[in-house]
Amino acid sequence: MVVARIQELRDRLNYHNHKYYVENSPEISDYDFDMMLRELQDLERQYPEYDDPNSPTKRVGSDLTTEFKSVEHRFPMLSLGNTYSLEELHEFITRIEKELGEVEYVCELKFDGTAISLTYENGSLVRAVTRGDGTRGDDVTANIRTIRSVPLTLRGDGYPALFEIRGEVLMPYASFDKINAEREANGEALFANPRNAAAGTLKQQSSAVVAKRGLDCTLYQMAGDNLPFGSHIENLSKAREWGFKVSREMKICRSVAEIDEYIAHWDEARKHLPFATDGVVIKVNDYANQRALGFTAKSPRWAVAYKFKAEQALTTLESVDFQVGRTGAITPVANLEPVLLAGTTVKRASLHNAEQIALLDIRIGDKVYVEKGGEIIPKITGVEFSERPMDSTPFEYITTCPECGTELVRYEGEAKHYCPNQSHCRPQILGRIVHFIRRKAMDIDGLGEETIELLFESGLVSNIADLYDLQAAQLSGLPRLGEKSAENIIRSIARSKEVPFRRVLFALGVRFVGETTAKYLAAHFHSLDEVMSASREQLMESEEVGEKIADAIIEYFADESNRAIIERLRHAGLQFAAEEKVLHSESLAGKNFVISGLFTLYSRDELKEMIEANGGKNLAAVSANVDYVVAGRNMGPAKLQKAEKLGIKIITEQELVDMIGGEHTQPTAQAEVAAPEPKREEPMQGVLF
Ligand code: IVH
Repeated sequence: MVVARIQELRDRLNYHNHKYYVENSPEISDYDFDMMLRELQDLERQYPEYDDPNSPTKRVGSDLTTEFKSVEHRFPMLSLGNTYSLEELHEFITRIEKELGEVEYVCELKFDGTAISLTYENGSLVRAVTRGDGTRGDDVTANIRTIRSVPLTLRGDGYPALFEIRGEVLMPYASFDKINAEREANGEALFANPRNAAAGTLKQQSSAVVAKRGLDCTLYQMAGDNLPFGSHIENLSKAREWGFKVSREMKICRSVAEIDEYIAHWDEARKHLPFATDGVVIKVNDYANQRALGFTAKSPRWAVAYKFKAEQALTTLESVDFQVGRTGAITPVANLEPVLLAGTTVKRASLHNAEQIALLDIRIGDKVYVEKGGEIIPKITGVEFSERPMDSTPFEYITTCPECGTELVRYEGEAKHYCPNQSHCRPQILGRIVHFIRRKAMDIDGLGEETIELLFESGLVSNIADLYDLQAAQLSGLPRLGEKSAENIIRSIARSKEVPFRRVLFALGVRFVGETTAKYLAAHFHSLDEVMSASREQLMESEEVGEKIADAIIEYFADESNRAIIERLRHAGLQFAAEEKVLHSESLAGKNFVISGLFTLYSRDELKEMIEANGGKNLAAVSANVDYVVAGRNMGPAKLQKAEKLGIKIITEQELVDMIGGEHTQPTAQAEVAAPEPKREEPMQGVLF
C-alpha cells in the first residue's frame, strides 16, 4: 500500500532526523537518509492527495515567497527583567523568600538568538510566531519547518491536545561563520552577530533559503491550559521525550550559593559552547509559586536574567592599517596577535578614529583589551598599562593618504580624517564602482571586487560610466574571464538600465545618501534633474535630509567630473526619473502637506501616496511653505505649536480624505497591520498556565 509506505518513510525519516539534529547521534549514513528522503519525495509527487505540511520533505523549504501574517499571541510573550549585578540577583531571591519562604529555582542558559512560540495541535506543529511586540508577532511557520531540530510531529504520548512551547532560534557559530564567509565572497553585507543572523534569516521570504542557513532551536518554556506537570522542569523534561531540543544544562538550585556556583561555572564554560549565550536565566520552578508571584507591568516576578559582561580578551597590538573608503574616509584598523573571543578567532579590531586612539592612549606593542559589541569587527576598549613596554612611544596618526599621498583633511563635526583626492585615489575610485554594482544599488551580477580591479588595471573602467561602454570582446580577452562570463556581465549591465531611479540615486554614492535617504529624495523630487537643481533649503524639505546631507548632495553635483559622468549615464539610458504615478485628480495641486502622528484609517505612507496622487506635495518639516498639517494621534506638541503660530491649517485624516473627494474611506488591510493594537500594559496574572 502506498499510504503505508509513505507513513513508514515519514516515521523513519523523523526518527533519524531527531537522532541527528537533537541527540547528535546519527544511526545511519547521510546517503541512506537521502535515499529514503528521495523515495518519499517521489511518492508525494506521484500521489499529491497524501500531501502533509508536516512531512519531512517540507524541511527543504520552498521558493514561494510569502508575506508574513501578523498573529495575536494567545498568551503575551513577555521579556525578562535583567541585571549585571550579583547583588541585585541576591535581592531578587531575598524578595521571593520573604514572600514564599524557601523555594526551588531552575537555572538555565540565556540563549542569544531570537524568540519563537510554537503551537502544536494533536501532536502536529500548526503555527510558529515571532515575539513581535509581545502581543502580536509574525507567522513564520514555513521557515520554522525547515529547522531540523524542530519536531513537525511529536513522538511518545501525554502531550496536551493544544499547547504552546517557546524557545530561541539560534544560529550556531559554525553556520554563522560559513554564511558570513559566503556573503563576504559575494560582496554582500555581513551579519554582525549570530543573533542578527538568526533574526534576519527567520524573516527571509523564501523558506528554501532558510533551510540552507543551518538554524537551530532550543525550547525553554511551556504554555497551555492542560500541561501534564505542575513544574517548569518536569514539563520541559517531558517535552524532551516528545522530541523537542531542551537544554541539558538546566539545573535545580535551592540556595543562593548554588545559583552563584552555576553562574560562575557557565561564565567560563560558555566560551566552549558551539552557540552564543549572554547570561543565565533563574526561574522559580513550581507553577503554583510562579502564580503567587505574578507579574510586573513588563515581566514575570518569578524569573530574572543575569547577564554576563561582554567577553574580553587581552592581546598584543601588532600594527595599525589605514583603510580608505569609497568616500575617502580613513578608518584605522588594528592588527592583533590572534586571540579566541566569543567563539571566533579575532585578528583585527576597529580603532574608529584618531581621537579614540589618543583618548585611550593606544600604542603599538601594547597589550590591549578587545570586546565584541553588536558590530562585526570587535573593538579595542582599553590598554593594560602595567604591561606597556619601556620603550613605547605615543601613536602618531597619519597626515597623508596611505594610498595616494594626498594630505588628509578633517570636516567640521566629523571625527574621521578624509582623503580629498576623490578622482585619483585608487580605493576611492574602486570603492565607488563596487558600491555602484552592489545588489541594493544597480545589482550588476558577475562583477565582483576582483573583476572590477582587473577592469581598472587594464584601463577599461575608471569610473561608473565606463561600465556602459564595455563590449563583450574586450572582457573575454582578460585573464580569468571566459566568453560566457563576459556575455553575462554585458547582459547584466544592460539590464541595470531598468533599475528604478531611487536605486540609481543610491548607487551614485553621494556621501551620507544611504538607501533610505535616496528613497525619500526620489519620492520628493521625482527626477535627478530636480535633485541637482534643488537649493540647500529645498533639499532639506525632503524627509531625512538635514544640513549635513544637503551639503554633501550639493558638493557632489557641483563637481564637474561627477556631472560629466552623470551626463554619460543619462546618455546610456539609466532611469533618471521616478515612474510617473497615475494622477487621480488635481484637487490638491500646488498645496504642500506635512503628515505627523499616528493614524487610524491609513498608514502614513498611504496618506502620502494619496496626497501625491491628487497633485499635492509632501514636505518633511513645518515651515511657512506648508499649507496643511495632517495631524494624527500623539503628534509632537512643539510641531503643533509651530504650525498654529504660522497659521497653517491643521486637519484630520478624514478631512484630507474629504478634500480629495472622500472615495478612500475604507481602511485597508495594510493600514491595520501598520497600526497595531495598543500594547497591553498589564499582562493577565498567571495567564500562562
Ligand atoms: S524565559 C516570561 N528562558 O531572553 C519570560 N528566555 O529577555 C520567558 N531567552 O525573550 C522567557 N534564553 O528570547 C527564557 N532560558 C531562557 C532564555 C530566554 C534566552 C530570551 C528570550 C526572551 C528574552 C528575555
